Amino acid sequence: MIVVASANGRVGIKAAIEVMKKGGSPIDAVEAGIRLVESNLEDHSVGKGGLPNLAGEVELDASIMDGDTLAAGAVGAVHGFEHPISIARRVMEELPHVFLVGPGAERFAKEMGFEPTDLLTPEAKEIWARGFVDSDFYSAPERVRYLERMRKLAAMAKDPEKAHGTVNFIALDDHGHMACGVSTSGWAWKYPGRLGDSPVIGAGNYCDSRYGGAACTGRGEMAIRAATAHSVVMYLKAGLGIQEAGIRAMNDLEDLVDEYFGGMNIVALDRHGEPAAFSDNPNATFVYMTGDMDEPVEKPRTYVELKPTRR
Ligand code: GLY
Repeated sequence: MIVVASANGRVGIKAAIEVMKKGGSPIDAVEAGIRLVESNLEDHSVGKGGLPNLAGEVELDASIMDGDTLAAGAVGAVHGFEHPISIARRVMEELPHVFLVGPGAERFAKEMGFEPTDLLTPEAKEIWARGFVDSDFYSAPERVRYLERMRKLAAMAKDPEKAHGTVNFIALDDHGHMACGVSTSGWAWKYPGRLGDSPVIGAGNYCDSRYGGAACTGRGEMAIRAATAHSVVMYLKAGLGIQEAGIRAMNDLEDLVDEYFGGMNIVALDRHGEPAAFSDNPNATFVYMTGDMDEPVEKPRTYVELKPTRR
């Protein structure tokens, strides 16, 4: 058995392995691991403590996928609930739908008995407020249209330390069952209602136990347009190895014409339990842990330099 996660998944990866050691499913493992990241107040990209949108409200997105059945559940733009990954799981299990957003997702969470909570921490609020100063948002002349001011904030998405983050978990048990989960507070200072790739099945999350799973962090707009997580799994299905599949999916992003091009990371796992991860940031890392390990290991991702083919 093995669990692979983005580096910020370290706080939950041991718990995820423990779940499977005790007989839980990969879905149980992914949910348990991600819940701990969602509760980590030091992580400003996921769950409680996440950075808010333009209006100062924390909006969470998450998705979960069962690689055995290709069942999936997702929620987007959820206010006031700490564990969107668990709401996404309930969508998958309880409804004939895949994806709920905003008030509908919140109503469903209440019906399922999830406790509402305040997601905005003082530290996240302070970072959010400082972003307007750092980006020169206020220095734009009054006559400049509001949306042009927004572009100053959007440009901060180039800096993953400031604007991005998300958590990915992929789990494989000893019987070949696989699941993949993703949770995020999304792009900080985003326009209210904006959804990234994390809750979009095929973009930020895809899993098929016959081939493998993949999940993304980074600028979700790119992964949505290139269907990046699905591409990795389709390249595995076509017979490529995990390294080549990930590099090909990264290279596919080069076709995008995009003003804010860059900032993309993938974690992947093939059906044999071979982990891999990719990034256009040469310093990015990921974590994994097998059932035989006492502690997770953190490894560098394969660096894939992305050069847009068209500007
Ligand atoms: N990858 C997370 C997002 O773009 O929201």
